Order: sequence, then C-alpha cells, then structure tokens
Amino acid sequence: MCGIVGYVGPGSTLDVLLGGLKRLEYRGYDSAGVSVIDQDAGLQTRKRAGKLSVLVEDLEESPITDAHIGIGHTRWATHGAPTDTNAHPHLGGEHLKLSLIHNGIIENFSELKTELQEAGVKFSSETDSEVAAHLVAREYEKTGDLTAAFRAVVNRLMGAFTLLCIHEDHKDLVLAARRNSPLVIGLGEGENFLGSDVAAFVAHTKRAVSVGQDQLVELRQDAVKVTTFSGEEVTPEEFTVDWDASAASKGGWPSFMAKEIADQPQAVGDTLMGRLASDGSVKLSEFAGLDRLSEVNRITIIACGTAAYAGEVAKYAIEKWAKIPTSVELAHEFRYRDPIIDEQTLVIAISQSGETMDTLMAVRYAKERGAKVLSICNTQGATLARESDATIYTHAGPEVAVASTKAFTAQITAGQLVALSLAWQRGAMDKDHLKELGLELLKLPRMVKQVLESVERMRELGKELKDAKSVLFLGRNVGFPIAMEGALKLKELAYIHAEGFAAGELKHGPIALIEPGQPVIVVVPSPNGEDSLHPKVVSNIQEIKARGAKVIAIAEEGDSAVGKSADEVFFVPQTHPFMAAQLAVLPLQIFALELASAKGLDVDQPRNLAKSVTVE
Ligand code: G6P
Repeated sequence: MCGIVGYVGPGSTLDVLLGGLKRLEYRGYDSAGVSVIDQDAGLQTRKRAGKLSVLVEDLEESPITDAHIGIGHTRWATHGAPTDTNAHPHLGGEHLKLSLIHNGIIENFSELKTELQEAGVKFSSETDSEVAAHLVAREYEKTGDLTAAFRAVVNRLMGAFTLLCIHEDHKDLVLAARRNSPLVIGLGEGENFLGSDVAAFVAHTKRAVSVGQDQLVELRQDAVKVTTFSGEEVTPEEFTVDWDASAASKGGWPSFMAKEIADQPQAVGDTLMGRLASDGSVKLSEFAGLDRLSEVNRITIIACGTAAYAGEVAKYAIEKWAKIPTSVELAHEFRYRDPIIDEQTLVIAISQSGETMDTLMAVRYAKERGAKVLSICNTQGATLARESDATIYTHAGPEVAVASTKAFTAQITAGQLVALSLAWQRGAMDKDHLKELGLELLKLPRMVKQVLESVERMRELGKELKDAKSVLFLGRNVGFPIAMEGALKLKELAYIHAEGFAAGELKHGPIALIEPGQPVIVVVPSPNGEDSLHPKVVSNIQEIKARGAKVIAIAEEGDSAVGKSADEVFFVPQTHPFMAAQLAVLPLQIFALELASAKGLDVDQPRNLAKSVTVE
C-alpha cells in the first residue's frame, strides 16, 4: 500500500516521478504528491487528494520548476483521511527544508508525536508519517549530518516503513530506508532510481537491486551506497528486470484489467516455458534451492485473496499427484493459532506482489520453526523471493489492475508444475502418466486463448445483470475455489454482494437464499472420468432451478446434460479436471468486468482497495 518513487539524475525529475507513480498507482490512489529540489527555487512540493490525475492536472495548470532530484508518493490512507494536507510528502524542520514520504505504519508514532509536540513542533497533518519528517529535520539541525540524522531516526521507529527523504541543502542525495515494506533501487547511466517495485523505473532501466530488511540507501547521481541500520556497508545483489516497460501500459485496451485478461494465454505460456519439455516431463530447476525435499511430509500453502484460491487449486493437484497432505492457510489467520510446522513441512507461499505483509509475516513464522519455504511470486526483487529458500516466478508480467486476473491463472499453472515435479521426484506416480499430464498442461495457453475468443455471451450477461443485488457462485472440487474467485471478482469490481459456495454445501444453508430470479453461476465439473461429481452438481442445478434461480453454467464442451437444466451454458474445452480451473475462471473474470463497466465503475482501481497490502 502506497507507492513511492525517487530519482536523481540529469533527466526531467517530474517526468520520472509522475511516470513512476502512474505505474505504482495500483498500490493506493486516494492522494498523490511530489517534492523536487531546484538549484534556484529550492524545495518545491505539490500534493493533492484524489487520483494521480488530479495532481497531474494541478501541475499542468500551475507548474513547479523541474529539477534533477525528487521524490513522489501515491497514498492508500491509514492514518488520517485522504486530504491535501494528509497527502505525502511531509515537510519538516524550522524552515521546512526537508521532505519525506512513507509507505507503511509507524507503530510508535503516538509517543513520538507527543515528544515532538512537547518540544513545540506543530503538526500540519493527522498522519503517522509526519513524525518522521520532523524527527529527521530536528536531528539534522543539531548535527549537520543528514545521513546520520536519518539513520538515528529510523532506528527509533517501530512498525513497517519505507521512507524516502530529501533536503534542500543536499541537491544530490536521496536517502531511503526500509523495514517490513518494499524498496528496490534502479541503476541507470548517470542517474539512479528508487521505487516500491521495479515497475516504478522499468521504463528507464532494467538493472535493479533489491534492498534488504533494515537497510539504508544513499542514492546519488553516480553512486549508490547501501548500509545496515547500524551502519555496516552491504553489497546487494544486482538483477536484470525481465518485464517489458510496454507491458505495463494499456496498449489500446479500455482498461488494464481488460488487457490483463487478454494477456492470459501468454502469462500461462510464459510460466510453463523452460519448465516442461516437449515430451511432457517437468523440470523445475528452482527445486535445487530446497534441500531434503524427500523428507517433506506435509505442505502448507500460505496466501491471501486471489492467491489463496490459486493455492486451493494447487492443493488438489499436490494431493492427487504427489500424495503429500496439503492444507491452504490464509496468511493472516495462520500465525495466530499455533499451527503445526516443523523441519519436514514445506511451506508454499503464493503472492503476485511478493510484498503482502501477512504472507511475509507468516513465512517468517514458518521459517523460525524450521520449515522450508518455496514461493510462487510474480515480481522480481520482491521481499518474499528474498526470504524464500526457492522461488518459482510466474512470468505473467506486470499486473496493474487491482483485481488479479493473469497472475491468478499463472499461479495455478505454477502450482500444477510444482505438483507434477514433486510427484516426479518422489516417484508418487507412474512417469508416463505424469508426462501425459505435462502434455495436457502444454495445451493450456491455446485453450485459454480459445475461451477468450468466445466470451461474447458472457459479456452480454454481465451487462444484462448489472442491476442484480446479489450473485451466487457454486462449484465442487477445483470448481469450488473458482466459484470463490468468481464471487471475489464481482465484490471487488462491482460492489455487489457475491458469495461462492461448495455445491455440496447448498442444502446445509445457502439454498435458503434462492428466490425467484436469483442469479447463480455454477462451475460444472466434467462429466467424464471416474468419480465425476457431474451428476451431483446437475442435481444441485435442478434444485435451485425448482426454486426459481436463474442459472448460468460453465461446463465442458460436449456436456449435453447441463443444457437441459441451466438457463444459459458457457462451454469451455475438454481438458484434465484440474486444468479446467484456468479455463472456467475466464468467463467469470469477463462477467465481473462487464457488469462493473456497465455500472460505470473504475475496474482498474476499485474503491477502498490496494493491490499490494503491505500493512497488517
Ligand atoms: C489484495 C489484492 C488481491 C490480491 C491479494 C494478495 O487483496 O487486492 O487482488 O489477490 O491482495 O496479493 P498478493 O500480491 O500477495 O498476491
């Protein structure tokens, strides 16, 4: 939550900052601000409540002088309403020469604020962040050493923070520090960058360095120095960003979400690339980072939101193919209930951003108890990847829309690769059978494309149901997490009540919600294969139809039975029942997108949400 960007170099600072903030706006969009230091005009700050576009328009109407050093912020409010004064940057010092931005929560801000107020400091905002600006400025006024002052203050702060700070007396220095919030450095030619993630600067450089926990950065035009909070110099590892800057633009689509839905054949294909041979055998070189994998007797998948539903799909595949008991835990619940974790536990943490605070804290908790951690992550340089024993990157590219789509199908794909690979290594299944499954996975990008080319009726249904007060979703087996994800998409985007239920649970309560006209979307399992749950779900459809529900079924091509019961059927190609998950979710994404668009809502930036939840 909150996006931060910093720059020092010969280019247009305002262009770099506003361009970076545009790419980070998914992290929060209730206010935005920038500070730059001009040689003559000194420190200039502009900040506005509302989306970044409000700030941009304001700067167009009454420009500030461009400069060669600056910081920018896009906010998701925690302390203090989204107003101009609560927007960042915050200024500190007797002559307000210091400017500071913050992502996170300073937990001891109240004591620090009292201390400052007692010393006569006047606050202009209700934020926790402003204390840091005043503290650094006062410390600097005492000693004249900005880096030392900044270091002294970050050592006093508790909680989560990425801080960026500039001072009018230092026209070539951006200071940054991070604890429990993300920070990445971009290395340019004669210019350097800071950002919450690489999207902030990928348009300018692909050379990046991720900053570790409790580290401080001194960023100059031609030098970058990283030290620990206690002052020891560290040599962080550089990596090359494999995202293409153009991937983070809409490319002619009406919204990022529409584009990202359409990106899914590639996202799934790129996640498979290099990991599945043409004969279907799977090779995850990432497993090399995990020692004693053969001793693992339990898998705990940790995630939040959409990523947790991807984890639910992975659970079915891991248990069926690799035969390892697996549970899925919401990260924020997990570490507060004494979970059973030991050296024989493999934790699989799934996160698009790799910065979700609850997921990170749960991973740390599990590591302290000896678990090995494999992460499935979409963002290079993310904290989660740094803290995991091994990381499988989903190569979905930058996901900008707040509601996750392509990262979800890529996460499911990565989970299936993990399941196949574990099954292979442990000899849990016949290798020829595993290769057949691998070959089926290889067909997925084409099938995803095929589904996306035939969603017209789903678009119409989204528009037709725009005035629905509630939509229910039902599914069984992997269709259950897909039903939950379909409901989540609708809540996030269209602000209408939506619930996903296990179809088998229907008669234990949810059927009481059915009244004439109630829309219910049912993810129907394949009729093929032994143990198919198809007849049971078709019976469920009949039960709700008998009570007046309007049933929209997502079913496999060739399923003739379902059409006789449902009002509408959307068909997806035949595939393995687990891989049908990536196909069945596509019409649900389209449905939510169209319904929300028909209501005139902003599908990329739904109200109250942030894409990356970096506070607990
Ligand atoms: C937020 C986002 C969701 C996302 C979840 C987990 O709630 O709005 O779209 O699924 O965080 O995010 P992660 O980055 O950990 O996958």
